[in-house]
Amino acid sequence: MKPADRSSVLLRRLLAVLLMAGGLPALAQQPPSLELCMACHGPQGNSQNPQIPSLAGQPRIFVENQLVLIREGLRDIPTMKGVLDGLSDPDLIALAEYFAAQKPAPMAGAVDAPRYLRGRELAAQSLCGSCHLPAYQGRDQVPRLAAQHEAFLREVMLEYRDKPGLGRDTVMTNALRGLSNQQLDDMAHFLAHFGKIP
Ligand code: HEC
Ligand code: HEC
Repeated sequence: MKPADRSSVLLRRLLAVLLMAGGLPALAQQPPSLELCMACHGPQGNSQNPQIPSLAGQPRIFVENQLVLIREGLRDIPTMKGVLDGLSDPDLIALAEYFAAQKPAPMAGAVDAPRYLRGRELAAQSLCGSCHLPAYQGRDQVPRLAAQHEAFLREVMLEYRDKPGLGRDTVMTNALRGLSNQQLDDMAHFLAHFGKIP
């Protein structure tokens, strides 16, 4: 398939998903393409798919930066190919403002206390909170990690550690160097369920 065909197939598939979901919410005050984002990133940016990151409550600057990188092809996300085509800088800023203002939903699923506690200890030792802040809510260009999907966190950390792509910040490769897969798993579990164990 030519790329153009593929993206129109994608758009039709997303439209079908939205129609099945019972029509669109009122979009009058919302930035362009929001309905498309929510088809993958979930209602108000709270993703229902463990492989797709939630955007709700992400710092505005982080989202803005990532959107520019993705639109320019500097961060390669095959499933988002074409989704940002034709969007202007003000469009991307409006999207970032919208998602930054949404409330992140607590992560569903059971907490495994030993893994949570190991992950908490390791994140503290590794000083992850010095950049992501002590409640892991992120700030400026540093993303929120609290209440993010565990599978996504694990995947993205493996990428940073083993094969950081173009456009990805090398501070994260340095932060994760030398940590084992088990240690990344434990931290992903802790961060996804952050705050559930006092
Ligand atoms: C077809 C599904 C799909 C659509 C539509 C989509 N995204 Fe994504 N998006 C993804 C996936 C999958 C990732 C994670 C890729 C990875 O593993 O690094 C992602 C990543 C992102 C990221 C980086 C988040 C992070 O924490 O690293 C941002 C920001 C983003 N998308 C914003 C948007 C916006 C805004 C829209 C609507 C204009 C949108 N996406 C539409 C699938 C989609
Ligand atoms: C020196 C500052 C710094 C430290 C320390 C740091 N991070 Fe990060 N982290 C960042 C920045 C900046 C980004 C965004 C990187 C990018 O744009 O590619 C990021 C991205 C991430 C992401 C991707 C999230 C997403 O939604 O895309 C994860 C997961 C993450 N960090 C986990 C950690 C963990 C776990 C630790 C501790 C072991 C840690 N970070 C330590 C600055 C830091």
